[in-house]
Amino acid sequence: MTTLTKTAIRADLLDFQADPGLGDVQSDAVRWRPGHWLLIDEDGRILAVQPHEPGDDFRKLDRRGQLLMPGFIDTHVHCPQIDVIGSWGAQLLDWLETYTFPAEARHADPAVAAAAAALFLDALLAHGSTSAVVFPTVHKASTEALFAAAQARGMRVIAGKVLMDRHAPDNLRDDVTNAERECRELIAHWHGRGRLAYAVTPRFAATSSAGQLAMAGRLLAEHPGVYMQTHVAENPAEVRWIAELYPQARSYLDVYAAHGLLNERAVLAHGIWLDGSDRALLRDSGAQIAFCPSSNLFLGSGLFGWREAREVGFNVSLASDVGGGTSLSMLRTMADGYKVQALAGTRLSAWALLHAATRGAAQALQLDHEIGSLEPGRLADVALWDWAVGPVAQRRDSLAHELHERVFAWVTLGDERNLAECWVAGQRRYVRA
Ligand code: GUN
Ligand code: ZN
Repeated sequence: MTTLTKTAIRADLLDFQADPGLGDVQSDAVRWRPGHWLLIDEDGRILAVQPHEPGDDFRKLDRRGQLLMPGFIDTHVHCPQIDVIGSWGAQLLDWLETYTFPAEARHADPAVAAAAAALFLDALLAHGSTSAVVFPTVHKASTEALFAAAQARGMRVIAGKVLMDRHAPDNLRDDVTNAERECRELIAHWHGRGRLAYAVTPRFAATSSAGQLAMAGRLLAEHPGVYMQTHVAENPAEVRWIAELYPQARSYLDVYAAHGLLNERAVLAHGIWLDGSDRALLRDSGAQIAFCPSSNLFLGSGLFGWREAREVGFNVSLASDVGGGTSLSMLRTMADGYKVQALAGTRLSAWALLHAATRGAAQALQLDHEIGSLEPGRLADVALWDWAVGPVAQRRDSLAHELHERVFAWVTLGDERNLAECWVAGQRRYVRA
């Protein structure tokens, strides 16, 4: 996991030293250091950023004219759903039945799971995402395959076996006793191993009995560093179904609260159909919502209210939600997020979007000591980007008058084709062919 030598990369460095807010185009939170050197030590940690060239004890890579940022953090994505990305004509509940569950069933085979994990993590890196919060499948072997593949790449991955003990096909259901045993084994083996962390992963309240959610809550109470991930309030038909399944709950989110699943390491995807009490509960618990604009548009789920989230003050990160989402590219995800908020009359700055996928996500995951910025001491998880690919983007880039204009055009027009290199803990893991 260590590089043989120290490395220095010269590029246009962009990161955040504070929260830039939602709409401020001029922001002191932005740290812009064009043509600077990023110094990385033998252990893959950032040593310093400086304008002058370092000494000959560094291997030097001059990438002048390219943009270097912290690797993106995708806070909600499904490894097995690469197989169903771009599937036609369904909303959430029939999309799960028609496409997703059959694809996930194939991951009972450890060989299928291992091949899928390798393809998935290499694809994340080839899109500039160096960290992710991931759903594998209900199968223990798929979780092990994902952790092993992440470990081999040195990536910061948070994941856990999916819990489903009802309303799912026979080949995707577990039960409380076996699921608890498998979770305990997985936590003992993988949680805190290198850069890996375990997340207790009830898929959503529809596919877990109250007994299984209570078991999930027990696991969290017994393992304070373990994360929790699930889905909440994504689709109107789903929300109605949860109200039938849990009639005593005040709201969908309240089902999770009642079982002890909300805390500052909880990541809940979507959160579109929330009310004021739910938002206050999210704030008070420290949980975050993973805003998944591509998925929310593609599955016709609805428009997440980032402005309302901000007013109440709960954490929001950005996520691809592949395969409900149609791209692993966090740039495309940001472009979709911008458009969703534009529909609600909120004009997001490029800074808000980029912060949510870097330092903001790192803070919400309580990992900002490790990822999300170019501060000395952080692991050198970084991506090197072309500002513009192709004649249209190049023309647009050439006409930008100031930094925000240029960065916003990059976010809007860019995708994985802009990615030149991706580094994980000081090791180059992806180079564009
Ligand atoms: N809700 C429960 N499972 C899923 C899933 O796999 N994808 C999405 N988008 N929503 C879900
Ligand atoms: Zn999802």
